[in-house]
Amino acid sequence: VSLKSYNTFGIDAKARYWVEIDTEEQLRTLFQVSEFLAAPKLILGGGSNLLFTRDFEGLVVKMSIQGIKVVREDASHAFVKAGAGVNWHQFVLFCVQNGYAGIENLSLIPGTTGAAPMQNIGAYGVEIEQVFDHLEAVDILTGETRIFNHAECRFGYRESIFKHEARGKYIISSVTFRLNKQPVFHIEYGAIRETLATMGISEDNLSIKAISEAVIRIRRSKLPNPAEIGNAGSFFKNPEISKDDFARLKTEYPTLPGYPTGDLTMKVPAGWLIEQCGWKGKHIGPAGVHSKQALVLVNHGGATGAEILNVAHQVQQSVEDRFRIRLNPEVNIV
Ligand code: EPU
Repeated sequence: VSLKSYNTFGIDAKARYWVEIDTEEQLRTLFQVSEFLAAPKLILGGGSNLLFTRDFEGLVVKMSIQGIKVVREDASHAFVKAGAGVNWHQFVLFCVQNGYAGIENLSLIPGTTGAAPMQNIGAYGVEIEQVFDHLEAVDILTGETRIFNHAECRFGYRESIFKHEARGKYIISSVTFRLNKQPVFHIEYGAIRETLATMGISEDNLSIKAISEAVIRIRRSKLPNPAEIGNAGSFFKNPEISKDDFARLKTEYPTLPGYPTGDLTMKVPAGWLIEQCGWKGKHIGPAGVHSKQALVLVNHGGATGAEILNVAHQVQQSVEDRFRIRLNPEVNIV
């Protein structure tokens, strides 16, 4: 089975076996098949945060369970459950339309709702952990469903237990969010404020709908549409360095941006570091660095995963040579 249309990088890798799961019932049935239990497995959502560097000699389980349901409501919150296969942006639109606030800043992020907790998706000052209530996941060894509450997910910046101890051990089947009926607006991010202003939105007519619209505009202007240019969003995480290292670098590079993440640490935008190294808009064959956002690696058509990875390694090397900072991938490399 070709995986080309199932990963947003558009890499033409192949899977030995393939199964698409539409219901929780199908998921349970799968666990009665001994070949399933024996095969190496790759659980796939929207394929928007991974890079295939080889064919997968196992079973790809594409999670397509649909359904959005308000499971509980009180005066201040709505608890909304979404099947793992629900398209993330469709889920955001559902919440925005119904006045459930908290994820409007996360509009237009590619991928599925079930994959969202894995890397604690975030953008424009919001991360999903802020509205995450719990998720249901099936244990790959026992076939039993278990619940992970907020603490158990061990969220961090683009991190969760599903990238570490629990990696490859569970299949997330649904996620339940606790959304606010009284919106708390997050417009600290400069680009959001500027875009709202150009839309004629002020404090008086601010709404989650307006924020969602502003985020959509910003993302469309900066980030390549995977339907046109293969990519997986930010390829690297923004690195954290010590305040001492930051101060040293700042004397050498006075325009170095950064913001504190603790008493002793600063986060610096990887996109800036990559751009300084001259990579923005560059490419090696069909694999390259996006011209409007240097943190995004792109497939201009026909690139292999190895070619993308080669660019990634060269970018890492340039940044390390010049700034002595190691960039770590944000994308899962298979
Ligand atoms: N910058 C440059 N050149 C570039 C890109 C960025 O100099 O080519 C510098 C600028 O100083 C800019 C700053 O980096 O002000 C921040 O850039 P941007 O607002 O585009 O955000 P980012 O830090 O590059 C992160 C997330 C994005 C998220 C945006 C908005 C990570 C790894 N990435 O990118 O998430 O959409 O913030 O909040 O944290 C993703 O994870 O796939 C993703 C797209």
